[in-house]
Amino acid sequence: MNNNPICFFDSGIGGATILKEVIKLLPYENYVYYADSINNPYGNKTKNELFKIVSNVVDNLLEYNPKLIVCACNTATAMVLNDIRKKYKDIIFVGTEPAVKVVHDKYQDKKTIVITTKGTGESKRFKKLFNDYKTKNCTLVEAPLLAGLIENNKDPYPYLKELLKGYKDIDIVVLGCTHFPLAKNAIKMVLGKVTFIDGSIGIANRIKNLLKDNLNLNGGNIKIISTKDDVSKIILKIINKNY
Ligand code: DGL
Repeated sequence: MNNNPICFFDSGIGGATILKEVIKLLPYENYVYYADSINNPYGNKTKNELFKIVSNVVDNLLEYNPKLIVCACNTATAMVLNDIRKKYKDIIFVGTEPAVKVVHDKYQDKKTIVITTKGTGESKRFKKLFNDYKTKNCTLVEAPLLAGLIENNKDPYPYLKELLKGYKDIDIVVLGCTHFPLAKNAIKMVLGKVTFIDGSIGIANRIKNLLKDNLNLNGGNIKIISTKDDVSKIILKIINKNY
């Protein structure tokens, strides 16, 4: 048994959409969630800026002796996680990537859009994933302002209406940023009925597999660290609610 926490970080509240699925699967773990809202959006930073920001987050999380660290952010995973792994060789990191493979495996002929931040969409790592697995009906849509709107509790509908106005008859929307599940309703208002895909359940299963000999049986605490305004209530609401 290992009581050390599973640590999460993101540029704010978005990574809680992953934490929610992990808690469902592993309710007796202890969790630390680091909401780095002060640096939101990660998606508009340069690689060097983001490497420094994420190094600082990891340095802070190391104080908690994490059993593993979840990079609950597609952007940080795409832009800097390889370099972060090289810097912190003893730490197990779990990254987050847009679920393009799921579309490739299950929804070959469905009309699909993959929505990402600018940083993810333009990263080498994502471009490779997208080129390797995209289906012929799959289009990338970068949404540089969406994570910021969600983080700052602004209505994303007007922005999405403009961004997605050229897209009709979409079957599948891949949510390629952990903030985006929180805009599902606004996306539905623009596109109508669509199926949403995100990577959260896959990540939860991967974490369970990684920790199989190292699980906690009597934890269940969640500590939330906010770098700007206190977002604990919002995070707990995301964990406990359907959206
Ligand atoms: N939630 C993040 C992601 O999954 C980051 C969004 C941002 O800060 O740009 O990409």
